[in-house]
Amino acid sequence: MQKILDIITAKMQAAFESAGYDPSFGRVTVSNRPDLCEYQCNGALSAAKQYKCAPIAIANAVAEKLDKADFSMCETVMPGFINLKLSDAFLQNYLEQMRTSPDFGVEKIGAGKTIVVDYGGANVAKPLHIGHLRPAIIGESLKRLHKFLGYNTIGDVHLGDWGLQMGLIIAELQERQPDLPYFDESFTGEYPETAPFTVDELEEIYPTASSKKADPEFSHKAHQATFELQQGRRGYRALWRHIMNVSLADLKRNYDNLEVYFEKWLGESDADPYIPAMVEDMKAKGVAVLSNGAWVIPVTEEGDKNEIPPCILIKSDGSAIYATTDLATMVQRMQDWAPDKMLYVTDKRQNLHFDQVFRAARKAGIVKPETELEHVGHGTMNGADGKPFKTRDGGVLRLQTLIADMTNFVRTKVVENQIVAADEVEETTAKIAMAALKYGDLSNQPTKDYNFDMERFAAFEGNTGPYILYTIVRIKSILSKYGAWEHLPMQAPANIYAKDLMLALTKAGPALENALKTSSPNVICAYIYELAGAVNKFYHETRILTEENKELQAGYISLIGLAKTVLEACIHILGFSAPEKM
Ligand code: ARG
Repeated sequence: MQKILDIITAKMQAAFESAGYDPSFGRVTVSNRPDLCEYQCNGALSAAKQYKCAPIAIANAVAEKLDKADFSMCETVMPGFINLKLSDAFLQNYLEQMRTSPDFGVEKIGAGKTIVVDYGGANVAKPLHIGHLRPAIIGESLKRLHKFLGYNTIGDVHLGDWGLQMGLIIAELQERQPDLPYFDESFTGEYPETAPFTVDELEEIYPTASSKKADPEFSHKAHQATFELQQGRRGYRALWRHIMNVSLADLKRNYDNLEVYFEKWLGESDADPYIPAMVEDMKAKGVAVLSNGAWVIPVTEEGDKNEIPPCILIKSDGSAIYATTDLATMVQRMQDWAPDKMLYVTDKRQNLHFDQVFRAARKAGIVKPETELEHVGHGTMNGADGKPFKTRDGGVLRLQTLIADMTNFVRTKVVENQIVAADEVEETTAKIAMAALKYGDLSNQPTKDYNFDMERFAAFEGNTGPYILYTIVRIKSILSKYGAWEHLPMQAPANIYAKDLMLALTKAGPALENALKTSSPNVICAYIYELAGAVNKFYHETRILTEENKELQAGYISLIGLAKTVLEACIHILGFSAPEKM
């Protein structure tokens, strides 16, 4: 559906033209004085300079030409503003069209396009910790947003499964269990089917190994094991597969808990086969050059304010690094999926890495000139005190602990307030906790840091996820008491609160589009907070279920029904859903 701003801008432009002025002056904006009007056009002020006459004269002439059926108010104000309010008929028609269109008429701007969203950031053998919360939920919501706006979306977790952490684990295992066949180079038989460790052991092995990195002898062993794994040493590959199997099952369970779902579980290791040909090609084209024994891609560009160091492709010891696998992954993605866009969500400390990789990819022609590459570098989630989040003993908090803490906190409220019957407590609690956690995060600009504040995020009032859920539950309850509502047509606004709610509903499409264009789920949060406010104001000021005029009542019901559709679509994009009762 065409956006209201575009519709009335077109009408305004036609009015400028028929009054004898250049139509380009007819741009309409949302009013910044909602107390005075809903929309405004300031074009007469700029036109006055070109036509050398009083702006108010132009405004008056233009206003004269506007079709009054569209506006309940069309006022010219000194020195030359045109202030507008939409007519009831216009709003009714527009909302009826929204109500009867798929997905309330949002424009599918991504139709025919494919986007890869690379998010999550999980590393094999390392349990998810709170640092993994933001890339998972921001990425998931950006992916869902693109999907809602028509893109074919592919979410890829891009597992860290090929780096030094693998060598560290192998080296540590060898110290603990040197007699395992994986370490015996002369072994030619079948390796055992079950892993020589459990997931709990694995999660202890990695940090232990990692803490020994400073020991030169151990570090050398780990590097050597990484190298040999990547070269294809049989026993190490078998061990690697065990690590993968054990760890992946655990990661999947954790992401499932967070309602974050990846279409692809590819990783750095899957990029490995693409590296040799890619590197040869870069050397042949002269894109990669030798520098102190390493192959690097210079990526400085004219106009750079800061120096961007070259992107290292192959280190002097012959090994590939993080940037190499990212470039090779792009080769694979272009080959298999030919995406129009690749969007990466990671901590903003990786900004430079992605700058380098994107530049190198363009230089080497791995992507097309028109392929969009974007990195969303998110800020840090800190503790309520604004300091880095730590466990009591100073360690890193596990993601599952954070989720459990939030769930326990919410469960207490659910039980104390006797919100639902005993057998529904868990499901309701899980939904509210998810909303609290995700909205608490997503309502912040991705690039900014924020403080995790359980009490504030889980509050049922204020700018929170639970407040949004509460609003939806309220609508659901009215609708279920009313009965069949899905086919009731939209009516003209019956009061000022209905009109405000209608105006808020018309902003759904623009808000989603704006969120997509700026990669900012917080725009959606701000929008639904406004929308929920309009719903609740309308609810408090209007008798809905007790209204005796059935005709009027049907209009109310249709209106809140559309509000429910929009709110539910938006929270689905943010990654949570509403319970039946709250
Ligand atoms: N595993 C990486 C890390 O822990 C994040 C991966 C992000 N994606 C990418 N294509 N580099 O930092």
